[in-house]
Amino acid sequence: MLAELDKLLGSCLFEIDRCKDLKKLEGIRVAVFGKNGEITEKMKYLKNLSQEEKRSVGAKINEVKSVIIEKLNAKSSCLEMIELEKKLASEKMDVSMPVNAQSFGYIHPISKVFSEIATILSGYGFRFAEGPDIESEYFNFDTMNMPEYHPARTMHDTFYLNIPADEHGRKLLRTHTSPVETRCMLKNKPPLRFFTIGRTFRSDYDATHTPMFDQVEMLVVEKDVGMAQLKWLIKDILKKFFNLEKLSVRFRPSFFPFTEPSAEVDINYSIVNGKMIFGAGDKWLEIGGCGVSHPNVLKAGGIDPSKYQGIAFGLGIERLASLKYGVPDLRNYFESNEQWRETFGFSPMDL
Ligand code: DAH
Repeated sequence: MLAELDKLLGSCLFEIDRCKDLKKLEGIRVAVFGKNGEITEKMKYLKNLSQEEKRSVGAKINEVKSVIIEKLNAKSSCLEMIELEKKLASEKMDVSMPVNAQSFGYIHPISKVFSEIATILSGYGFRFAEGPDIESEYFNFDTMNMPEYHPARTMHDTFYLNIPADEHGRKLLRTHTSPVETRCMLKNKPPLRFFTIGRTFRSDYDATHTPMFDQVEMLVVEKDVGMAQLKWLIKDILKKFFNLEKLSVRFRPSFFPFTEPSAEVDINYSIVNGKMIFGAGDKWLEIGGCGVSHPNVLKAGGIDPSKYQGIAFGLGIERLASLKYGVPDLRNYFESNEQWRETFGFSPMDL
């Protein structure tokens, strides 16, 4: 019996040594320790032995068992390592390979401008906020100091939606990003520095107006801000956006119900060979509006106008994109024309 156990140990160690994969190793383990395995059988046989034999054979069985288990475990970790290395080698990729970015398609100029503006505004410490595209009359107009029957409501060429009104009035597609100002003020305590970028909608259609367009809206609420800071900020943002040291921006006195004083922001351009060249020339394009927040707007946002002041602007993203990338007709942005996208689109690697 003892000699048999030695033989079993010898053949087992030999098999384990020769074994080249984990499945086979498991086979060996089952053949030795399984329900009908060789060691298991030997254990069963113990009961037929005398007390004395039991002691010596039992001790031998235990010794053989622990040597085989140790060897099995060592071999198993070794084979696992080899399999892992094989797997890693087969999944190897060269991260230095050049990428064919065009196979991912093109970044639309509007998306590109989105990320450019967001990067610039984050640099001043502005936080990004979002509001819904489907707004209520209350947020879109009332909080912006345009109560019911205010003439400015009709000037907005609003798309009203055929869905039930709620406590905030009729539902509509927001005509500007300004209602996000109120949502930010209601959710946060001043001082505030917020911006949002998003879609806006008006029933209007020609070369410089599309029924859907995008705006960037910015709001600062602090104890001591006014027109001087606002003008500096807008000019500085535009200089960064256009990568220019000098840029002529015109602030034209204007009227918005939500700001007092208010100004429209125009940017200088000329047309050379059918392309818009900005920064110089005799033409001006309006890119948005700005002003010092009306006390009623601050009040609607839960802010005390005797303690805080707000400055805000709303600029058209398509207008900015047109000036920077030379697209004269805004309608092109939304026509899904593949050829146009190939000409004016950007590589995903440019973002
Ligand atoms: N909401 C205005 C519009 O869509 C733009 C605007 C003007 C936004 C003045 C502002 C502002 O924040 O201060 O025409």
